[in-house]
Amino acid sequence: MMKRLFCALLCAALLCTAFPAALADTLTVHPDQVLHEVSPTLYGIFLEDINCAVDGGLYAELIKNRSFENENLWNPQHADHWEAWRVSKWNQAKLTLENEEALNENNPTYLHIALEEGGWATVSNQGFGGNLLRGGIPIQTGEKYDLTLYIRFSEEAVKSDSSVTVCLSDAAGNALSNEAVFKYGENPMETWMNPDKNWWRYQAVLTANENAGALLKLQIAGQGAIDVDMVSLMPGNRIGKDWPGGGMRKDLVEALRELHPQFLRFPGGCVVEGTYVRSDAYNWKDSVSISDAANRREIPNTWGGMITMGVGFYEYFCLCEEIGALPVPVVHAGLLCQARDVKDPPLTMEETKAYAQDILDLIEFATGGENTEWGLLRAWMGHPEPFDLRYIAIGNENWGAAYFSRYEVLAKAVKEKYPDITCIVSAGPVAEGGLIQDSWNNIRRRFADDLVDEHYYMNSGWFPAHVNRYDKYPRTTKVFLGEYAAHEPVQGNRRPNNLYAALCEAAYLTGIERNSDVVVMSCYAPLLSREGEVDWTPDLIWFNDSTVYKTPSYYVQQMFAQACGTELIASETDGDLFQAVTRTETEVQVKVVNLSDQPVPLTVILPGAENQTVRGQMLTGEKNHVNSFARTDKIVPTEIACECADEKTAIELPPFSLVILRYSY
Ligand code: AHR
Repeated sequence: MMKRLFCALLCAALLCTAFPAALADTLTVHPDQVLHEVSPTLYGIFLEDINCAVDGGLYAELIKNRSFENENLWNPQHADHWEAWRVSKWNQAKLTLENEEALNENNPTYLHIALEEGGWATVSNQGFGGNLLRGGIPIQTGEKYDLTLYIRFSEEAVKSDSSVTVCLSDAAGNALSNEAVFKYGENPMETWMNPDKNWWRYQAVLTANENAGALLKLQIAGQGAIDVDMVSLMPGNRIGKDWPGGGMRKDLVEALRELHPQFLRFPGGCVVEGTYVRSDAYNWKDSVSISDAANRREIPNTWGGMITMGVGFYEYFCLCEEIGALPVPVVHAGLLCQARDVKDPPLTMEETKAYAQDILDLIEFATGGENTEWGLLRAWMGHPEPFDLRYIAIGNENWGAAYFSRYEVLAKAVKEKYPDITCIVSAGPVAEGGLIQDSWNNIRRRFADDLVDEHYYMNSGWFPAHVNRYDKYPRTTKVFLGEYAAHEPVQGNRRPNNLYAALCEAAYLTGIERNSDVVVMSCYAPLLSREGEVDWTPDLIWFNDSTVYKTPSYYVQQMFAQACGTELIASETDGDLFQAVTRTETEVQVKVVNLSDQPVPLTVILPGAENQTVRGQMLTGEKNHVNSFARTDKIVPTEIACECADEKTAIELPPFSLVILRYSY
């Protein structure tokens, strides 16, 4: 705390200096000259299950492959359904993965243990942290963990008093928690799955007695057949315990909340179109179920592993409410990924017309009353009130005739039934060139009222060089910058999230704010990355089992979102800076970026700030500095303050800096 305070004071002292006005650049603010409104949805976030962002990340589930459905995505004949499970010891026992008389058709694989008289077996799950050397399941002394699992005891197993005993353990099998003992007829939950097949859901609370990376150990003993499926363990301190999917990891939800996102785009990204075959495409109906997620159909994730659907569309809408963001759901447009050599063709036009109903059903699920089929399901899941759904994005990074003809059918169906929902059309995956030109030609001609989703990942220098990109757009068009990030050259095996990339994004955001009559939404991508599970860099937030660190780009997003006014006001500078100034009814927010390697003395003229302490934040440091697990706070915003005797104040912008000043007027 003292260190932070000292830093803040030091920054204030360094920043507010006296220098000869003639040498200084000048930034003049005109609070009474309103240029246009700032979009109230300008800063949002995009959640896609890439880099283990959801399963193994935001989703609170600690058991990997809990349903035994994992498969080797790219080579199904070498399926490894055992992933994360290890059978360590057994006697008079045979363990196999089976499909007969499964829990339900969406959850076909389960663990089958056949015990001869006096038989026993021990099977353990390593969690998402991998083996114990890499982390295992993170547990904390005294913390409680909610365990649920489905078990089917055969008649013989019941008669011989067979049991499944579960605890957290170390690699040698020593218990690191209390033990929960499950036997037929004892302690099953009231709900059960397919009672005719005798699957019962059991639950217990495990309390950890060590800080460790642990295994979840199942000891099965007795005689006869015992089947196990959907073994779930979640930390007691998670957010959304009542959501049927089970809830989300608290520290990551807080990191999202602290971005002050105005909307949340989900679930993709490439994820919406699936892998190479149509059956893997994301179908929102697979992601919803009353009770728990055992009924949901997992799908292979195009980025690796499986999408468990534990964070499905219901949990997504709940998360939006939790962090105060509007939902922006994305559905595929009847095509598989156009950027890859996929196996299945697009839906025919007839199939597309039929598929439109799925999209209408999603809107009904979010907004319909309890007198509608899908609205009733939402109510049963725990949310009788409608969610505040205003947008639907149809397609991700699509382009060309095949896309636009399908988009037309799908968007028409939405507009006819839900005229208040805004449809979002894709302009493709690139910033420049013939493809996006062609997209815009189509869109202007055929979908002029729709919101246009642009995506581009460019080198850092591109962003400041194109800060005026949207100055030239017709003011009637509305853009959703749905994915972007400044990419630095690869170092080692990743593109670093350094300060320079973040400041290039900050410079660009001043251009976005100046054009927020056209650009009405924007979000950085990707959002989350788990250490050791990296599919894509850079990413906004990094995490492992115990630590979350925020990148300089995160702080840029946060600083802009926190200082997002309601109106853009006129400002000018005679220097080489990037700036945008906004206001609310009571406050002016000045955002200024110095991308040079030299300090810039700046005279700021702030009418209305006379005799005030102007406060704000600054993000600065060495150009190439990054945050990391070892040093999470190398680049963080510091608080600053400047006295404004008259309407002028003199500040010095450090090399490579973003400064945001706020004052009442
Ligand atoms: O953000 C990562 C990927 O980039 C998204 O899945 C896709 O839309 C884009 O190509």
